[in-house]
Amino acid sequence: MVRWIRDQAEGCGELGSPLYRELLHRVADDVLADGPAAVVLSGHENDPGPSALALRLMGGVHRLVLTGRAPGLAAYYPSVGGEPGDTSAWPAFRSVLEEHVDELRSALLTPPQTNEVGRGAALIGGLHHVVARRPRPLRLLEIGASAGLNLRADRFRLDTADGPVGPPDSPVSLGSAWRGVIPPRDVRLEVVERLGCDPDPVDPTSATGRLRLTSYVWPDQTERLARLRGAIAVAEQVPAEVRSSSALDFLRSVRLEPGTTTVVWHSTMWQYLSADERAGVTARLAELGEDVTPDTGLVELALEPTRRARDSRHRLLAVLRSWPGGGAQILAEAAPHGIPTVWEAAPAE
Ligand SMILES: C[S@@+](CC[C@H](N)C(=O)[O-])C[C@H]1O[C@@H](n2cnc3c(N)ncnc32)[C@H](O)[C@@H]1O
Repeated sequence: MVRWIRDQAEGCGELGSPLYRELLHRVADDVLADGPAAVVLSGHENDPGPSALALRLMGGVHRLVLTGRAPGLAAYYPSVGGEPGDTSAWPAFRSVLEEHVDELRSALLTPPQTNEVGRGAALIGGLHHVVARRPRPLRLLEIGASAGLNLRADRFRLDTADGPVGPPDSPVSLGSAWRGVIPPRDVRLEVVERLGCDPDPVDPTSATGRLRLTSYVWPDQTERLARLRGAIAVAEQVPAEVRSSSALDFLRSVRLEPGTTTVVWHSTMWQYLSADERAGVTARLAELGEDVTPDTGLVELALEPTRRARDSRHRLLAVLRSWPGGGAQILAEAAPHGIPTVWEAAPAE
């Protein structure tokens, strides 16, 4: 368990959270010293790494901070106005572990649930490519949608050297998220349907949903938090349904609609599907692809860890698959939280 916590500490450090890097190493030390972290985490010694025990704990503590029940620790958490860059939070963190054992132990039973708004940068660019090729209204369908925040990605703003993309007054600014060969800008995105699925959907318009999503963003990542809060504000204005369903059951209920392009979008969810469900989703998309007529369209836009030919590493690649034919093209490579997204020269269709 200590090893997993230290691995997570390093992962947080690499992804830009010095606060969690420091705190999680202190948690690991405290487990070895039989301190309050050992009490809170007892019984989880053999949890496998992917259960993200450390992030469950940190989410539980963050919820206490966000709801005003850990004022001493709040001074170190930029998510509630604490001092950025101050990593000397451990004594205050330790006190929270001592004071909230039962609540934190129950937080360990809930898997982290995040919805990364920065990944919308790849989705928006992908949609620009799709509409540049076929100027038609879009149905945006997302599998593994979490809270469905990116089902509203066309309502986010991006900045490019040639001016903004998306509504200039959007509460979500993705900044200069696009690098490389910028996608065709001169298109109009018209999204006529927004529908997603997730086995564990979060309602971003409810207080509980908002707290849940916010608590799993690392508190010193203020730009991610600002994007999340902006996207929650957009969600309050722009409805989108996220059904409680797994990807395959959801796609079985999908049909193509005349006069529209159906876009099946997903990001960092493929690894959670069983091999059978992955095969089922791939087969179902191919089956839907058989139904494509001159008046309907189908594309899959994926932002998933993918290995290019002759590359030993998985990278977060935006891949567009279009029917008829189902041919795939790599459009871009993105950072884990989506920003930056570096576009490649899109090959001709
Ligand atoms: C890491 S999150 C990514 C969420 C969102 N796509 C994003 O990029 O922010 C993975 C999501 O996959 C969902 N998931 C897990 N198993 C699934 C399944 N069988 N079908 C659809 N979604 C699934 C989880 O509930 C979770 O919301």
